[in-house]
Amino acid sequence: MSKVHLLDHPLIQHKLSIMRNKDTGAKEFRELLEEISMLMVYEVTRDLPTEEVEVETPICMTKSKMLSGKKIGIVPILRAGLGMVDGVTKLIPAARIGHIGLYRDPVTLQPVEYYCKLPADSENRELIVLDPMLATGGSASAAISFIKQRKGRLIRLVNLIAAPEGIQRIQQDHPDVDIYVAACDERLNEHGYIVPGLGDAGDRLFGTK
Ligand code: PRP
Ligand code: URA
Repeated sequence: MSKVHLLDHPLIQHKLSIMRNKDTGAKEFRELLEEISMLMVYEVTRDLPTEEVEVETPICMTKSKMLSGKKIGIVPILRAGLGMVDGVTKLIPAARIGHIGLYRDPVTLQPVEYYCKLPADSENRELIVLDPMLATGGSASAAISFIKQRKGRLIRLVNLIAAPEGIQRIQQDHPDVDIYVAACDERLNEHGYIVPGLGDAGDRLFGTK
């Protein structure tokens, strides 16, 4: 069963509260999402393996640690996942970036795919899927299925806000995928929006409503 990691650092909670506020404009919303994404990925990568290397400092030789193991790939779900990419690549600049284009049909709430381009060597990478919102879980579940169809195996899902329904869906469809969230909210409303949530992440990020 996938584990749910709640990343409730005070800085993350503070910034998230400003994002939730309906009066926060697109510029500040974008900046905060980038900052939170950076803080989150610091925790998401906490268990990455390291190896000892020899380093010559200006003073002497010493043993020190560097990352070892598989390289990282990040996969934002379009559109809103794009808002998390810059924060993550500030900490992992060498990460390859794949894109999965999905939108949720407003009536059926089913994900509709329009784009998928992943790093060619995805099967050899630790893949971090990015999307601020995990509502019904349909979009994230479909994105993870695309990655698995293309042989990606080591997958982590990072969301800002999750609804219990979305978490349950991922745990059921992809029990091998751990979920990292800054907040677990109460529920979905009748339109499939997270309550209390922050509204439509894509529209707030890109100022399209
Ligand atoms: C939002 C969000 C997720 C999805 C979550 O995207 O960014 O991808 O909804 O809902 P779900 O868990 O019920 O699938 P949206 O479909 O609004 O597309 P956008 O990012 O292009 O605005
Ligand atoms: N997508 C969003 O952007 N917000 C929600 O609350 C649910 C789905």
